[in-house]
Amino acid sequence: MDNAEKTRRELPTAAALDVARVLISEDEIAERVGVLARLIEADYRSSGKKLVLLGILKGSVVFMAELMKQLRLPVEIDFMKVSSYGGGTTSSGSVTILLDLKRNDISDCDILIVEDIIDSGRTLSYLVDYLKLKGAASVKTVTLLDKPSRRVVDFEPDYRGFEIPDEFVVGYGLDYDEKYRALPFVGVLKPEFCEK
Ligand code: IMP
Ligand code: MG
Repeated sequence: MDNAEKTRRELPTAAALDVARVLISEDEIAERVGVLARLIEADYRSSGKKLVLLGILKGSVVFMAELMKQLRLPVEIDFMKVSSYGGGTTSSGSVTILLDLKRNDISDCDILIVEDIIDSGRTLSYLVDYLKLKGAASVKTVTLLDKPSRRVVDFEPDYRGFEIPDEFVVGYGLDYDEKYRALPFVGVLKPEFCEK
């Protein structure tokens, strides 16, 4: 039994029992986030603008917390909420802003959008254009997970944690119908717990 599997079995939460397989362990994520943090520091260190980590609610919160702890740069944080998923495991195809970014200093801000996962690419492609139009000094994206095989629009993140295959994943912030966000790893659900 590897460490990830051990964690899954030992978790005192019933949610972990719904997971068929751990795809990425907590330790692997922490290590990879460290690498991303070093890349981000190098790119922003001499920018002269305010670096704003813009988390996309709710899926990004765990990744965002880990990233901001590991960044050795002054950062501010903000959040937006958008919906592109109507629930379940299929994309609805359009992006709606549910909570907007309200800052009057946006032209002084380097915005780094922090996302849990890129699937069709619609959410981030829309948000990057939206924030540029709002007048941000710069807009870049970092995603923990990326499913490139699912792209509907042409979109590449500036920083990515892990490329994963076309499987529906939960944990580390990601949900299925609002469940499983608190699992400390990224895993694949047993088929009986995610009906497509
Ligand atoms: P996109 O606009 O299709 O790229 O969708 C991105 C959003 O879809 C993410 O922010 C997630 O909320 C959701 N999503 C896509 N794939 C998954 C998954 O495997 N598990 C959980 N949420 C997902
Ligand atoms: Mg989601």
